[in-house]
Amino acid sequence: MNILILGSGGREHSLAWAVMQNPKCDRLIVAPGNAGIAQIADCAALDIENGGAVVSFAEENTIDFVIVGPEAPLAAGVADRLREAGILVFGPSAEAARLEASKSFTKEICDAAGAPTAAYARFTEAEPAKAYVRQQGAPIVVKADGLAAGKGVIVAMDEATALEAVDDMFGGAFGGAGAEVVIEEFMDGEEASLFVLCDGENILSVGTAQDHKRVGEGDTGLNTGGMGAYSPAPVVSPEVEERAMEQIVRPTMAEMARRGTPFQGVLYAGLMIKGGLPRLVEYNVRFGDPECQVLMMRLGAQALDLMHAAAEGRLDEARVNWADDHALTVVMAAQGYPGAYEKGSVINGMDELPEGSSHMVFHAGTKAQDGQIVASGGRVLNVTARGATLQEARDNAYAMVEAIDWPGGFYRRDIGWRAL
Ligand code: AMP
Ligand code: GLY
Repeated sequence: MNILILGSGGREHSLAWAVMQNPKCDRLIVAPGNAGIAQIADCAALDIENGGAVVSFAEENTIDFVIVGPEAPLAAGVADRLREAGILVFGPSAEAARLEASKSFTKEICDAAGAPTAAYARFTEAEPAKAYVRQQGAPIVVKADGLAAGKGVIVAMDEATALEAVDDMFGGAFGGAGAEVVIEEFMDGEEASLFVLCDGENILSVGTAQDHKRVGEGDTGLNTGGMGAYSPAPVVSPEVEERAMEQIVRPTMAEMARRGTPFQGVLYAGLMIKGGLPRLVEYNVRFGDPECQVLMMRLGAQALDLMHAAAEGRLDEARVNWADDHALTVVMAAQGYPGAYEKGSVINGMDELPEGSSHMVFHAGTKAQDGQIVASGGRVLNVTARGATLQEARDNAYAMVEAIDWPGGFYRRDIGWRAL
């Protein structure tokens, strides 16, 4: 099979790494890719949100299977264009991608599916939204409806913060994403994510993970795209997973199919778990980043077979071969992230690191320059390891982190603390 992966982050590096291990992969191109991906696959410049350009590129390169990494091309209908052109693709249609692209759509589906989630109300104007905040009181959660790169959610512990968030959103702080605002009941509990492949009808769990969204140790400071992750998530016991499948994932998938917009791809269910009862926080329609890195490290080559089965509607035949293992990834980010950060600092010490089925440094934001690897993004490296226990995975990952010589970067030293 000739395979094309769309995307350029650590998630796509880990997808490429897993796919390359599968003998069914004859040729792999990643567009646009990054310096780490270029070490294992061909990279090509391509406007991945332009469906026409992606179809032409796939046809010119006799691609048999396309795997879409990030949400933006999905929301832009790239998977639809590929399907129309008869090219096999892993990733949902634009209609099904609304499970991530619109928070009010997700709420509507949860209502129809009877899936447990936070009580909510939606608004298109500031005054009624503020009246609702005053009536409900804090803590309360204010969300811009559309895609806002993970920044459109304010968890307000007091009323003033919530009122200010409403004004900011309707004032255009998140552009078009904030034209509609969802206000939600605050849920407390422990967060974890469940990843499920769907082929429109059948579903298959491919693992659980927890990430660390805050920039600082002890889960303090600003929100980020994720500073580290581990899999499995101990809080998602087999009973919790079964409950989440039965009460949340299965009814959601059935409702999408009933509406004539079946979901095909990976559904990322963000859960809030309290007393063994999961409630839905949000859906994403792609693998998490950095959660994908730990899932791929555990799944390895079979990830390709599973995604291929989902794309071909054969998930009922597919099984995951689970090893009794754990994986953990530590994100190394550029000093200043998630605020302003410098690009171009040189990273040394990576040549001597172990690489293989239990150790891998996935690149998230790097560039090759004059024979060296330099930082080119906020989140730069995902140092990932596997072990028989979470402690072993963590020790292995941090041993690699410590061998990396990058004065321009920083990382959290406590990834996994909640589970250890
Ligand atoms: P989202 O973009 O919907 O994942 O929201 C970002 C983060 O905000 C989540 O990962 C949660 O930590 C938090 N969050 C979102 N909705 C709620 C809620 N209803 N109650 C408590 N925390 C929430
Ligand atoms: N790590 C969170 C996300 O990918 O949305």
